[in-house]
Amino acid sequence: MKKILLACCSAALSLAAAAQSGYVPASENIAARQQFADDRFGIFLHWGLYSLLGQGEWVMTNQDIDFREYRKLAGAFAAPAFNAHEWVTAIRQAGARYVCFTTRHHDGFSLFDTAQSDYNVVDASPLGRDVVRELADECRRQGLGIHFYYSLIDWWREDAPRGRTGRGTGRDPRKEDADAYFDFMKAQLTELLTQYGPVGAIWFDGVWDQDQNPGFDWRLDELYGLIHRLQPACLVINNHHLAPFEGEDAQTFERDLPGENSAGLSGQEVSRLPLETCQTMNHSWGYRITDCDYKPVDELVRYLVGAAGRGGNLLLNIGPQPDGRLPEAALERLAGIGEWLERHGETIYGTQAGPVTPRAWGVTTRRGDKVYLHILDWPDTELFVPLQGLRVRQATACDSGERLDFRQNDDGVVIRLGERTATPDHIVVLTIRQ
Ligand code: GLC
Repeated sequence: MKKILLACCSAALSLAAAAQSGYVPASENIAARQQFADDRFGIFLHWGLYSLLGQGEWVMTNQDIDFREYRKLAGAFAAPAFNAHEWVTAIRQAGARYVCFTTRHHDGFSLFDTAQSDYNVVDASPLGRDVVRELADECRRQGLGIHFYYSLIDWWREDAPRGRTGRGTGRDPRKEDADAYFDFMKAQLTELLTQYGPVGAIWFDGVWDQDQNPGFDWRLDELYGLIHRLQPACLVINNHHLAPFEGEDAQTFERDLPGENSAGLSGQEVSRLPLETCQTMNHSWGYRITDCDYKPVDELVRYLVGAAGRGGNLLLNIGPQPDGRLPEAALERLAGIGEWLERHGETIYGTQAGPVTPRAWGVTTRRGDKVYLHILDWPDTELFVPLQGLRVRQATACDSGERLDFRQNDDGVVIRLGERTATPDHIVVLTIRQ
């Protein structure tokens, strides 16, 4: 146990040392961070060859599929129903402000027209269209940001450094060549950042694959430096499950709200960078044919509210089907969340975490002179809110518009809640004396 802990610490140290040292974000990057934080809600899309097998995006390594066999899937990737306009329309109507798309996942297949390898959607599949371009163009047309997920690990390329996953995919270990692999990644990132318009973020994943090899150098200084040179406003986000390294512009958490760690991937400290939590609508990232267990709309709304109350964004995942459609269950969730945000968006977008830390009854968000109490678990007829120093001018039930009685002292305010009118989130708006 001790040994593992030591290994993890030294891995974190050597990684941090290798990140973009002396990084000073450009003014357009600072503005982009604020925009990102104001957006509060994005949709994650995990789509690739793995959708054809319907067992999630890890199927290649989980089933030890030979990389030459896996490539044959590309010949069947026709996705006749893929329509970027329909995807982005449903996502925009859900109230999401950006899309994060898997340009290349761990199976190494590129969903864009890269010149660095013919193992890509245009050259190797009957679909034959640049999915990344269609999505990026459509997002721009509909006013959404586009973020690119980009895997640092690759189970398909023979030159890719071997980590703890992808070891059974039949590659010749003598062909491992980190220099060639990093050149490939830098060339691909250059394509993504020069040929697809403004990119909101590059979202890296896979650092954890080398956690048993603490000396491993991910060359993050070069990767981050390249991104910031090509597009200074582009945010660098890295799903490494550690405290942020220099050169990163936002911090992401996997399957847990900032400060919580129920899934075991989020024990890292919460930084002062903009925060984001990625979570799935069901249990899977990539399409899994047996996973129809989608969370109800109310639960997803409460998750979004929980993220906002902790000062973070929700990046909510959908795994599109192999035919190119978004699952019906996902479309229903998108519509439900959209309906809620249509009515209550002002309590989420452009807010900060409120003055009260998360409580058993719920969370708070704040914008200007308004504090929003998001009551997720109905306490009783009265609610004490420890506002410490803030003076309340008025309290209103959001849905009914009813004025609520309250009394206050230096510790906070006690509000008479009246009738419970709304699920999943009963919102009380406090107007604060400025
Ligand atoms: C994990 C999984 C990866 C997925 C990611 C999304 O890192 O390994 O497959 O893309 O989470 O957060």
